Amino acid sequence: MKIMTFTRRAAILGAAALPMVRRAAAQARPPVVVSSANRNNGGVNCCAKAMEIMKAGGDTLDAVIAGVNIVELDPRDNSVGYGGLPNEDGVVELDSSCMHGPSRRGGAVGALRNIKTPSKVARIVMEQTDHMMLVGEGALRFAKDMGFQEDNLLTEESRIQWLTWKKSLRDPAGHTNWGPGLDAPPSEQRKAAVLREIKEMFPQASDELLAEAWENAIHPPHGTINCIALNEKGEMSAVTTTSGLAWKIPGRVGDSPIIGGGLWLDQDVGGAGSTGRGEENLRVCGAHTVVENMRRGMAPKDACLDALKRVSRNFNDDLKRLAAIDLNFYALRKDGEYAGAALWNKASVNAARGAQFAVCEGGRESRQENSVYLYERKI
Ligand code: GLY
Repeated sequence: MKIMTFTRRAAILGAAALPMVRRAAAQARPPVVVSSANRNNGGVNCCAKAMEIMKAGGDTLDAVIAGVNIVELDPRDNSVGYGGLPNEDGVVELDSSCMHGPSRRGGAVGALRNIKTPSKVARIVMEQTDHMMLVGEGALRFAKDMGFQEDNLLTEESRIQWLTWKKSLRDPAGHTNWGPGLDAPPSEQRKAAVLREIKEMFPQASDELLAEAWENAIHPPHGTINCIALNEKGEMSAVTTTSGLAWKIPGRVGDSPIIGGGLWLDQDVGGAGSTGRGEENLRVCGAHTVVENMRRGMAPKDACLDALKRVSRNFNDDLKRLAAIDLNFYALRKDGEYAGAALWNKASVNAARGAQFAVCEGGRESRQENSVYLYERKI
């Protein structure tokens, strides 16, 4: 990755680049649904589904869970549910949490294997137990007891990506979860050799998949979908669901199932959630911080940017170290004002598009909007 330059002016411009447009657009009359963008229009489809359910009179929790189920069940989104990138053993482990505003309850599951829709299991933990969170083997047993079907969640595409990562480890300068050097890419020769081997094993693998596999091998992604909804009565719910950090140590749990970290909702104030590097979010208790910022009067945009500044502060605002981190917050206030905010304007210098999120308001098409951001990546 090339070193990025940065100016304070860029940061200020970045954070405030869109205010005239965004302020007008970011205040919506309920019902409103906000989510992360996700690939293959996942966020847009998620918000549209959630809106459809609310308009038909469904509860806000029914709405957000049905919305994210689309992405959990879509094998093309390799950061969530079925088809998610696996842990270092090649096993997909899923995390999810949900919160229901009117009843002020929440539920979560962590490191759940073999179940395609962990958000539904998190909901049942909330509704049918006196617990808040189940993990690992216990979570799977609970899900099976509750009638969920076990499936193999590893698709062939994700298996190809996992094998590419395994082979990339042969380079001592390559990524490993057990030591430093996360961002030390193996040499071009090594890359060519690994991808040649993978192509021999999987002749049908497209060049696009191989390129993505290599990128994900050296920069393990976090992905995730977060969705927050507000209905006409002012009721709110939220959910976050993910396959977590690719190639993680088995049992690693990120921010998504941590209530207060990857998700928080206070029926009196609003909701917030996160996608991206969960470890850094947990160090600022991000979703809770965003909602508390809104309680103290900050607009959703400023509430999210403040949480991102706390992440930056944990690195003494060292942009070279921060360059390895992608983190996004999403916030929806009880009056319908909303925002998406990113640490960086783009996930990488080569990213085709800037940071975005999805939103659907009653009476309008579900769509993507640009997120505000703290820092700007430059070549
Ligand atoms: N934000 C998802 C994770 O870090 O697991």
